[in-house]
Amino acid sequence: MVNVGCACHLRLNSALVILVFVTTNGYRVGVLGATGAVGSTILEVIAERDFPAAEVVPFASERSAGREIEWNGATLECRPLSPETIQDLDVVLSSAGGAVSAEWAPKLVEAGAVVVDNTSYWRMHEDVPLVVAGVNPDAAAGHKGIVANPNCTTMVMMMALAPIHRAVGLERLVVSTYQAVSGTGQRAIEEMREQSRAILAGEEPPEPQIYPHRIAFNVLPQVEVFKGGDDYTTEERKVMAETRKILDVGDEVAVSATCARVPVVAGHSESVNVRTADDLSPEDCRALLAEAPGVIVVDDPANGAYPMAIDAAGRDEVLVGRVRRDPDEERTLNLWIAGDNLRKGAATNAVQVAELLVERGLLGQN
Ligand SMILES: NC(=O)c1ccc[n+]([C@@H]2O[C@H](COP(=O)([O-])OP(=O)(O)OC[C@H]3O[C@@H](n4cnc5c(N)ncnc54)[C@H](OP(=O)(O)O)[C@@H]3O)[C@@H](O)[C@H]2O)c1
Repeated sequence: MVNVGCACHLRLNSALVILVFVTTNGYRVGVLGATGAVGSTILEVIAERDFPAAEVVPFASERSAGREIEWNGATLECRPLSPETIQDLDVVLSSAGGAVSAEWAPKLVEAGAVVVDNTSYWRMHEDVPLVVAGVNPDAAAGHKGIVANPNCTTMVMMMALAPIHRAVGLERLVVSTYQAVSGTGQRAIEEMREQSRAILAGEEPPEPQIYPHRIAFNVLPQVEVFKGGDDYTTEERKVMAETRKILDVGDEVAVSATCARVPVVAGHSESVNVRTADDLSPEDCRALLAEAPGVIVVDDPANGAYPMAIDAAGRDEVLVGRVRRDPDEERTLNLWIAGDNLRKGAATNAVQVAELLVERGLLGQN
């Protein structure tokens, strides 16, 4: 916490001294991965939400050291991570990849910061809370220096499903996702654009560098990797495990996920088949979600109104629609959900978690 103060001594006569002290409080905020897809969105969201920052310090790799970033009317200079540059930070919003977080989050905590981490590295660690603002904010209280931000696909889904879980209990989820390329980062967006431009010009598209196959005009039933011979991808495993951790449930809630990458720049879409413990009609489900913070019901399919990635992109709310009964299964609904993976799915939630840490006095306790 930085106290920026100014003291004025007004000597009215030799016996009377009036001391005026003006204080502006604010936090030193680090943004790690500031040149990336998530980090640059975090910078935007910090400014939009007027987070109480006395100073914002952008960090990126050595490659970007000295690079200037225009932010909120100021020019910020990117710094590399070093024992010297990480001192005196109150909170760090981190999105520079799992390996960077594995190494640097403990060092940042040791130096006095609380880290809100967007990578997958810390999410399933037992003593690291996994927090969706608006869903399980109380979990943040138990932090030991690191708070994890869930995977973007899980985050978007939780916004719609947590209110249903609280009202009638969830029993089983079958999730199929249609995920935007910005979920893989800045270079993936460029890869899709270059391939698309070439194909539209009637040329041979450049070989894929980021994805295993061409993403332009294609759908890939693979998000991330099949690790160690697993027949689910690491993304699918994250959706299944993180859902249970956020809802604080065990095997009593069954979760099955299939994740696909689609040629969309921003906004993940998800089809979810939801079996509940108690019956919930589509009408009651819509009414419940219409009251849920951060959720907008868009559900008039006959008139072409349903959640679409292009409408979810650029906004913080998650859109839910196509609410209908499963024709054959009892206590089961089908939903279609769309949310911006870079905003609520990553940056907005990270800033909301930082706000939560401020509001609840959870910074500066390491
Ligand atoms: N994209 C999403 O929708 C999303 C959502 C939730 C979570 N995440 C997670 O957030 C992380 C970042 O994702 P992204 O999409 O923003 O990736 P990105 O666009 O590729 O950005 C990566 C950022 O990390 C920085 N970086 C790379 N190596 C570094 C190092 N050794 N030291 C310091 N900084 C380093 C890069 O700096 P340079 O520019 O200098 O290379 C860049 O700022 C990933 O772990 C991802 O899984 C992403």
